[in-house]
Amino acid sequence: MPYRYDLVTGKNGFWENTDPAALAAQYGTPLYVYNERILRERCREMRELVSYPNFHVNYSAKANTNLTILRIAREEGLYVDAMSLGEITVEEAAGFDAKHIFFISNNVSREEMAQVIHKGIYVGVDSVSQLEMFGQLCPGGKVCVRLNTGVGAGHSAAVVTGGHETKFGIDPDQYDDMKRTADKYGLHLTGINQHIGSQFMTSDDFLEGTRRLLEVCMQYPELEMIDLGGGLGIPYHKADGEGRLDLAALGKALDKMFRDFAAAYGREVEFKLEPGRYVVAECCVLLGRVHDTKTVYENRFAGTDLGFNVLVRPVMYGSWHDVEIYRADGDDTGIRQVVSVVGNICESGDYLVTKRELPEILEGDLIGVMDAGAYGYSMSSNYNCRLRPAEVLITTNGEVKLIRRRDRLEDLLAGFETC
Ligand code: LLP
Repeated sequence: MPYRYDLVTGKNGFWENTDPAALAAQYGTPLYVYNERILRERCREMRELVSYPNFHVNYSAKANTNLTILRIAREEGLYVDAMSLGEITVEEAAGFDAKHIFFISNNVSREEMAQVIHKGIYVGVDSVSQLEMFGQLCPGGKVCVRLNTGVGAGHSAAVVTGGHETKFGIDPDQYDDMKRTADKYGLHLTGINQHIGSQFMTSDDFLEGTRRLLEVCMQYPELEMIDLGGGLGIPYHKADGEGRLDLAALGKALDKMFRDFAAAYGREVEFKLEPGRYVVAECCVLLGRVHDTKTVYENRFAGTDLGFNVLVRPVMYGSWHDVEIYRADGDDTGIRQVVSVVGNICESGDYLVTKRELPEILEGDLIGVMDAGAYGYSMSSNYNCRLRPAEVLITTNGEVKLIRRRDRLEDLLAGFETC
């Protein structure tokens, strides 16, 4: 029996009938591996969060825009948000209709906004001047405005998108101006959205943000849709027994707020949530190979092919990902070490794991990075002219399918014009 240090995937049956060594042998590393069963479970949990009838989940595609992942989300009844024409292009290819895509714009050009309007996709604007731009392009149209009611939350300052220190949303001082601009172009303010930030594990701030937003919504008589954003967190510290977000309590609280709002407002509006991470993070393990082990002065390193071009979250936000170690032939050496798992990028900050106590890692071992499905591949790059990884899906039929090929060296030359 090959050695496995697997505190997470052993419990949730992630590998189904395959195993990391077989996948690495067939597809190489680094490799994003997705489990369809877990992905579908998460989609259903979101879809069934509340019993309020006019409720829809917009999967926030920025977390993962793999075409197959998007198709599965669509099959599970989720709609999508989009941040760019690029995301819209992939979403259309995955089979989403214009009416199921919500464009949440931020600092977009007139050309981009015009193209989105032309497609018949509902647009949310993020400032009074972008509302002005919308009005010029689509007088008399229906539009959504993104409000910032002053509440923010998130795992890092970089992902807090509500409150005073963020570029997002229209703050209360601008509400009058916003209404004047809407009137000037005969616009119908039919939607209000908000997104306070990412990765909350308790719902208090989110519910407070929702409460404040709904108070404001009462002043807008034409509403058809209220979108509360995403941010629902997942336990990144599973190996230490971290618990899950209490979805039952959140769902119950939202249900009551939705019903109370409908009663006070005098009719039912559509409510939306926009989770990205919750849908896709946990259905994915990123597999990498250890190519080197060394000690530099007193620091122990395991050198892998998991540079920050493959997964940038630890470098960008100091994020924690649990890791597992798989050894094709050989046993646990019984030694535990404080080790940093690093990549192959030419920067000192290229850390995946910083000084963590783990079982001894040997050259040739595979490293599994847990919960890598959200903001993993979608934030990967070709930095150092490294190739972006392949992605495979372990299907519910027990097959393994390649759902995106690894970059090829010739891809690196594809965009250049000769001169
Ligand atoms: N809606 C809007 C308007 C958003 O800006 C975002 C995320 C979401 C929904 C989905 O948030 P989620 O449910 O995934 O938390 N790259 C960072 C996260 C950035 C989130 C950006 N906006 C990370 O790796 O943690």
